Amino acid sequence: MDFIRPFGILLGIAVFSCALADKSQIDPLIYEEQLLWVSGGAGQVNTYRIPLLTFTLRGSLLAFTEARKMSSSDVGAKFIALRRSTDRGATWSPTSFIVDDGSLADGLSLGSVVVDEETGAVILIYSLCFHHHYCNPSSTLMVQSLDDGFTWSAPRNLSIELGVKSFAPGPGFGIQKRYPPNVGRLVVCGHGSIAGDGVFCILSDDHGKSWRYGAALKSIPYNQPKQELDFNPDECQPVELEDGSIVINVRNQNNYHCHCRIIVRSLDGGESLPVEELVFDKTLIDPAVAAGALQKQGVMYFTNPSNSQHRVNLTLRWSFTDGKSWEKEAVQIWAGPSGYSTMTSFKGDSPEDNKYIYVIYEKGHKDYCETIYFAKIHLYGGK
Ligand SMILES: *[C@@H]1O[C@H](CO)[C@@H](O)[C@H](O)[C@H]1NC(C)=O
Ligand SMILES: *[C@@H]1O[C@H](CO)[C@@H](O)[C@H](O)[C@H]1NC(C)=O
Repeated sequence: MDFIRPFGILLGIAVFSCALADKSQIDPLIYEEQLLWVSGGAGQVNTYRIPLLTFTLRGSLLAFTEARKMSSSDVGAKFIALRRSTDRGATWSPTSFIVDDGSLADGLSLGSVVVDEETGAVILIYSLCFHHHYCNPSSTLMVQSLDDGFTWSAPRNLSIELGVKSFAPGPGFGIQKRYPPNVGRLVVCGHGSIAGDGVFCILSDDHGKSWRYGAALKSIPYNQPKQELDFNPDECQPVELEDGSIVINVRNQNNYHCHCRIIVRSLDGGESLPVEELVFDKTLIDPAVAAGALQKQGVMYFTNPSNSQHRVNLTLRWSFTDGKSWEKEAVQIWAGPSGYSTMTSFKGDSPEDNKYIYVIYEKGHKDYCETIYFAKIHLYGGK
């Protein structure tokens, strides 16, 4: 009977369960799936693409996506669409458009969302004119919400401090450092365009008031047109390990070395990405796409269309070794066309928060840009 257990043991178990997942019990199950956006529908939007997802400190989930007005093309005018859930994904608010870029030839590109856990601010960073398609220069912009995603600030032009180099954040989430070095720092990573290609991170040590460039992993040949098999690190997702290092899971745009993910690690809070810390993860085969990575209670999760040629077969993998090896089992989330994906979870210590991770991804029957889906994953097989 519970009440005769020594109090110390109960406490011990509680503390342990906060820190680490019970790895032997991990058995991910798709618990619930929901359709969030449909392309080609009515209204002012042709295509929804590039979904982002974040937790908030008040326990909401915020889903963002590009709402491409005229076509499915990466260039062109767009809105940023938002839906909120205050019941952990069971129901969602109607779509609101929180940013409208008007009728730009090369409109906004999402983007990276980062939550400052000290201030509660939800910060969204995106770019304008990333592709230099009938426009110049490229700009990096930021909007933020201080009220759980209800209202959003006017866009702030970060290029005034960062310069006008093309920088496409994410797509995915940025991190706030929880472990030394640089506790509290915001780290948002993304990639450049031809004018300076590669993976770059921007850093803020004052809750998003000011930003500067940190680490770079430059492409080869740098600043020059690429050909197949060149080293061209592209869209990326950082996660922080419990040792305070930052692992960035990177799209290998030109299939250098393998049709698989580039993994690179920063040991100094995102100031540098040394080549000694770079590996190619042959288990994570990839058709060159934006993928999801998440570190939760000592377990690393990864989602992508797990196929070396085509964007199909969206798969969830997990690792008990910080990504050095992956468990043999994997969960297929969707066999058919599937594109970009990203994950989030709540950081609290409640049993409910420890049980779930949340995935958002591009899904279709003929083409992956038909719909954006949300999946709630129960990490312990529904138990
Ligand atoms: C942002 O600032 C840069 C640098 O001052 C400027 O060149 C660019 O036009 C600005 N972008 C926008 C959208 O205002
Ligand atoms: C789907 O992914 C799994 C895990 O990587 C792999 O074993 C399987 O061959 C893939 N199937 C297709 C059709 O790509």
